[in-house]
Amino acid sequence: MSAQNYQQAYHQASENPEAFWADQAAKLEWHTRPTTILAQDAEGNHQWFADGRLNTSWLALDAHVQAGRGNQAAIIYDSPVTSTKATITYADLTRRVAQCAGMLRGLGVGKGDRVIIYMPMIPETVIAMLACARLGAVHCVVFGGFAAPELAVRIDDARADVVLTASCGIEIDRTIAYKPLVDAAIELARHPVRHCVVLQRPSCKAELYTDRDLDWHQALANAEPADAVPVMATDPLYILYTSGTTGKPKGVVRDHGGHAVAMRYSMQSVYDVGVGDVFWAASDVGWVVGHSYIVYGPLLAGCTTVIYEGKPIRTPDAGAFWRVCSEYGVKTLFAAPTAFRAVRKEDPDADLARQFDLTRLERLYLAGERLDPPTWAWLQEHFDRPIIDHWWQTETGWAIAANPAGYELQAPKMGSATWPMPGYMLSILDDEGLPVSAGMKGNIAIRLPLPPGCLTGIWGNPARFREGYLNTFPGFYVSGDAGYVDRDGYVFVMGRTDDIINVAGHRLSTGEMEEVLGAHPAVAECAVIGIPDELKGELPLGLVVLKNGVHIDPQQLAGELASMVRKEIGALACFQRSLIVQRLPKTRSGKILRRIMRQIASGEAFVTPSTIDDPACLEELKGQLDPQMEESRTG
Ligand code: COA
Ligand code: AMP
Repeated sequence: MSAQNYQQAYHQASENPEAFWADQAAKLEWHTRPTTILAQDAEGNHQWFADGRLNTSWLALDAHVQAGRGNQAAIIYDSPVTSTKATITYADLTRRVAQCAGMLRGLGVGKGDRVIIYMPMIPETVIAMLACARLGAVHCVVFGGFAAPELAVRIDDARADVVLTASCGIEIDRTIAYKPLVDAAIELARHPVRHCVVLQRPSCKAELYTDRDLDWHQALANAEPADAVPVMATDPLYILYTSGTTGKPKGVVRDHGGHAVAMRYSMQSVYDVGVGDVFWAASDVGWVVGHSYIVYGPLLAGCTTVIYEGKPIRTPDAGAFWRVCSEYGVKTLFAAPTAFRAVRKEDPDADLARQFDLTRLERLYLAGERLDPPTWAWLQEHFDRPIIDHWWQTETGWAIAANPAGYELQAPKMGSATWPMPGYMLSILDDEGLPVSAGMKGNIAIRLPLPPGCLTGIWGNPARFREGYLNTFPGFYVSGDAGYVDRDGYVFVMGRTDDIINVAGHRLSTGEMEEVLGAHPAVAECAVIGIPDELKGELPLGLVVLKNGVHIDPQQLAGELASMVRKEIGALACFQRSLIVQRLPKTRSGKILRRIMRQIASGEAFVTPSTIDDPACLEELKGQLDPQMEESRTG
């Protein structure tokens, strides 16, 4: 395939999306082939393949067994934190998923029911997801780093009757007991959870003390294997919660049909992998990268996927990624830039990498946050192979912009995610919704219809879908990122236009943290901003105004606020710092000027906005922040 093929594909997917995606859909084995390719529902939202019927779990498993690939490895599980390695073939995985689906059915789970999965990076997590999909039930995986209140919000929003969990997750230097967290979440949730199935791990036994709690292995032993249930292409496959600008996370809904088509297409066009290739997305199944490229993408494409229960460093060292790549013949490695920043810090000359045979590693993919030039340059210098930045979001489920390896790799440009993928009609719009010229920065928007695989809505909240994404620029989906497209069509993503920050590749809402800080009895008002961090990209910083007459030691307050965020949101927020300020800069209409505060805290130049209520506030804030930030920079 060539660049010309890419141009043709991009053109066709834009001009005649139905024909383009019908061709892609024809590559799947449908239960009932769709004849309606693109339609609109009663609310005017686009639907892909509305009359098609399929089962994603069947396509990812049984179809390969039927095609004679039963003995091929589907999953390689590598867990340095438990010293375990295992290979699961497609035939084994199909059997185990069918058994797990039988267990769920025995618990009353059927088509359309929601199941929460709060589990670590172990094969059973993937089995649980595929088992839900097999029944047409809707899984909702929650990342293990979230605290009990976050889990409770998701149980309530999804109205999930069943929770699947494990006794613990294992971090670099400690075991995190999950069951007490799950118990607390079930207690906090208003929606009653009927069953909680617990996988007991050797390093930590959970207490099962009510009729609600079941032992995973016992429940499994009593189950009858379940066949795949064909569902409509538009039926929901999963809900994945992601941070929005308000305190309440939003449940991104993905369908079966569009998702399966997009996954298959992206594995070929973005990653250029297929049957038998070993594909490793070094992320976590709790994130969209894990859903798309640890589980569904590789398995739908007949690849071998790696489930790695470890970190890029300290499990045991910064050579971990290279050991895994070499041991299993990984062809494509996908990780967040922060992971490579951690590796580079510990192994600056890549000496550990040189100890391994990496000849089968063809390409490195990065996403989840901006790929900073030093990390790109380091990877380029030490790994003589394509280093591919690609840009996407939980909402889209697959790359909006990438170097299209499946067509032809383009010369990369530093700071760019290369070209929009076919199906994404990308435009840069000014704040009035008018297109800007090449090289000019603006809002990155995508003309509707979005391609298959993108979100079909926000769970239980159609208004939030429209208001958050579709109403700003009629006829477009607004990505929430700012950027530009240069004269050669390269896409440059510059950062969020809203109050979302990105900490170690994890998307976090500052609004949610502000809600937590605001509950402290000493705090009158607060704002959370992201400040640059060498390792994690950004770290949250809380700026708080005390209530009149309150005196509290700043360190004590910072400590209390940090533990509140940890307890309410979770350790992954990495919220450690807060500073007391006299007042927060605001517009005349009362909107807090977070961007300016971020610029002041980061020592960047700033322009006083004309809408500011009191311009003197900025100098005053700078006078307060500069010494405190300087002190922290110098240690
Ligand atoms: N379950 C429970 N706790 C978790 C967790 C999980 N699955 N993942 C992280 N945490 C905890 C960590 O233990 C840590 O707790 P601590 O404050 O008590 O030490 C906290 O959350 C922050 O974790 P993390 O940001 O991972 O920091 P770290 O110092 O442990 O590791 C890196 C640093 C760079 C190695 C790590 O952030 C990393 O691997 N990043 C890549 C992540 C990634 O792939 N992101 C992209 C998603 S697409
Ligand atoms: P998430 O939904 O967690 O995947 O986060 C999506 C957000 O992460 C995007 O909207 C961007 O702000 C950021 N992001 C992801 N990938 C990239 C990238 N390659 N370059 C720049 N920003 C990125």
